[in-house]
Formats: sequence, structure tokens, C-alpha cells
Amino acid sequence: MSQIKVKEKVFEPYLTAEEINGQIQRLAAGINHDYAGKKPLFIAILNGSFMFASDLFKAVNIEAEICFIKLASYKGTKSTGQVITAIGLDMDIHTRHVIIIEDIVDTGKTLSEFLPQLRHQQPASLELVVLLHKPEATEYPVDIKYLGFSIPNKFVLGYGLDFDGLGRNIPEIYQLKEG
Ligand code: XMP
Ligand code: MG
Repeated sequence: MSQIKVKEKVFEPYLTAEEINGQIQRLAAGINHDYAGKKPLFIAILNGSFMFASDLFKAVNIEAEICFIKLASYKGTKSTGQVITAIGLDMDIHTRHVIIIEDIVDTGKTLSEFLPQLRHQQPASLELVVLLHKPEATEYPVDIKYLGFSIPNKFVLGYGLDFDGLGRNIPEIYQLKEG
């Protein structure tokens, strides 16, 4: 792997397809063990998590369902501030064992606003499986039960993650070269 250029920015190789797959197999093994007989419902958050969700779900070998949503954020009133809504959540999650699939947790803002909305619907349980977490960037702590990689606070792309819409199709993960 060598460095690549996307929209004039230089990115360096960070995680190989093999390393990503190794972690995914480990995460799936944990989920297979913890959720056997519970028929979990996976909810994958688009767009960034589509590749991760696909590879993870192939490695899940217990009875399970999956659906895909998009999160839209819009300006609410002065008191509500930024409001996050889920588009496409047509499943009833009441009494279900729900596992959210997310590509990356950065500040944690998105999930810390969205998870309480799901809890409101009283799922039997609610956990997160996240490929990448930037602990140094996290301002809103979220409890990640299944984590692939803790990474430095640098912009990443590839494997579903984009830079201005590009780079999602790259099978590896690259990191923005600084300076
Ligand atoms: P927060 O800050 O709410 O952000 O945890 C989560 C969302 O921000 C996007 N994000 C990234 N996307 N490379 C990307 O391609 C990155 O390094 C990156 N950091 C954050 C992502 O959409 C995630 O869902
Ligand atoms: Mg995302």
C-alpha cells in the first residue's frame, strides 16, 4: 500500500483489509456468543457503515435481522438545538435486542443524541458495534460494547468512509497526512 491523493489531499495507508477483517471476525465471534437465541436486530447507520455492516453481518452466524437507516440532523428550536432524526427506521424495536452498527465515533455527538431516542422505545437491550473510535476527539462519551480499533484523532477514509463523497470504495483505511 502506498499513499493516495483524494481531492488534492494526501492520505497514508493505515489499516489493511486483512487487519480490518481480523477485527470483524473477532467482533462477530463475540456477538455470536453473546446473542445466541436472542434474534438480535442490527441497525446499520448509512452511509459510512455499509461495508462494515455487510462484512460483519456475513460473519454473524446466529439468527438475526438487519435494517438500514440514515440519520438526518436539522436545526431545531432554540431550546432543542440540533435535532437528529432517523430516516427509514420501519422496524418495531420494542422488546428487541438491538445492536447499532456505526463506522466511526468521533466526538460522540451523533450517537449520544440518537441513542436516547431508541431507548425511549424500550428495546430489550441496546448495544453498539463500532469499527473505529477516536478517544481523543470524544466530547460526548458513548459506551461501545464491541469496538474494532481505537485510532488517533486524524481524518480517515476508505472502507465505506469518505472524504467529501470520495474514497468509500477503497478496501483499506487511509489516514490524512498532516503537514
Ligand atoms: P460524531 O462526532 O458525532 O461523528 O461522533 C460521527 C460521524 O462523523 C463522521 N466522521 C468521519 N467520517 N472520516 C470520515 O470519513 C473520519 O475521520 C470521520 N470522523 C467522523 C462519520 O460520518 C460519523 O458517523
Ligand atoms: Mg457515519
